[in-house]
Amino acid sequence: MSTLVTGIAELVTNDPSVGPGLLGTVADAAVVVADGAIAWVGPAARAPHADTKVDVGGRAVIPGFVDSHAHLVFAGDRAAEFEARMSGARYDGGGISRTVSATRGASDDVLRSRLRGLMAEMRRQGTTTVEIKSGYGLTVPDEARCLRLAAEITPETTFLGAHVVPPEYAGRTDEYVGLVTGPMLAACAPHARWIDVFCEPASPHAFDGDAARVVLEAGRGAGLGVRVHANQLSAGPGVQLAVELGAASADHCTHLTPADVDALAGGTTVATLMPGVEFSTRSPYPDARRLLSAGVTVALATDCNPGSCFTSSMPFCVALAVRELGMTPAEALWAATAGGAAALRRTDVGHLQPGARADLAVLDAPSYRHLAYRPGVPLAHALELADDARRLRG
Ligand code: NIG
Ligand code: FE
Repeated sequence: MSTLVTGIAELVTNDPSVGPGLLGTVADAAVVVADGAIAWVGPAARAPHADTKVDVGGRAVIPGFVDSHAHLVFAGDRAAEFEARMSGARYDGGGISRTVSATRGASDDVLRSRLRGLMAEMRRQGTTTVEIKSGYGLTVPDEARCLRLAAEITPETTFLGAHVVPPEYAGRTDEYVGLVTGPMLAACAPHARWIDVFCEPASPHAFDGDAARVVLEAGRGAGLGVRVHANQLSAGPGVQLAVELGAASADHCTHLTPADVDALAGGTTVATLMPGVEFSTRSPYPDARRLLSAGVTVALATDCNPGSCFTSSMPFCVALAVRELGMTPAEALWAATAGGAAALRRTDVGHLQPGARADLAVLDAPSYRHLAYRPGVPLAHALELADDARRLRG
């Protein structure tokens, strides 16, 4: 069964060989989808025959957003913390333990329905691939169940048992790291593709470089890929550790030294920027231009979580990246699609070349530029095709 998608005023392929610029745009374009994959892209006038036709009525079509960093398995609400921050309170990760306590006390059904609600919210805003972390259970059974629930939705599941030291281990970080790298890893690795750690010496709740290394090496030894919460609150060891360990991504990168930028430029680790966090914690934004100028691959992600940034909107992050991080609209869209795919080491998403997954997002606008030009306007949504029973699953 094949479908011809037509009426595309502007198609973003992320394939510079088919059209101008980084985004490889095609005007008056069409796409043929067959069996859940892209079969053909090009000018509408040259489109081949297909079994059915969908006309998007002069809108722009882009690759679905790849949100490579989100914390979606949780219960509870921390709006009061946000309100306090807007009056000057600082974010240091201390509120995470409130979400841990609410999550431990929630049933599977409650967690599943919150998770599915957030996934649907993301899809309505054009996201078609999402990574989901554990990190609000912090016991062996709670971390394992958070990952089991996440794996119902996406293959991009990340074990974040080393999110913070939970209250019952206060003052006993080494013992907690032993739990994370021992029985917790054994229980969680079967449900996870990645391991992550909140490496942040500036937070009394998170992990220093030595502890982070122990966690990441254990995860890698169990067959998991590496990603790191790095340099969010201060210029710490996280970014260079990520590069040294061959991490797919160093996430946050808010505070970078010249040596951090050099390390990223010399390695294969993607720098994932999440400007919704700086917005929601009233912190200085990172400088994407500095990274791009150094040749670093940059991704954009939401970091959707109840504490530091409760947005599920990739278009909002694109708009912030353009306005506040120094990215062009094209660079920001690339980072939110192809960049996210690179951060997840995925070649089947984040672009619309033949063979890629048929993950399309439609904009109620004639051009991708409107994502940043019309901030806060709900322009993007994932395209649901009749022969496409797939939902956000990676
Ligand atoms: O990416 N920095 C650590 N973890 C999350 C925040 C989690 C929370 O505050 O609940 C982050 O910002
Ligand atoms: Fe995070």
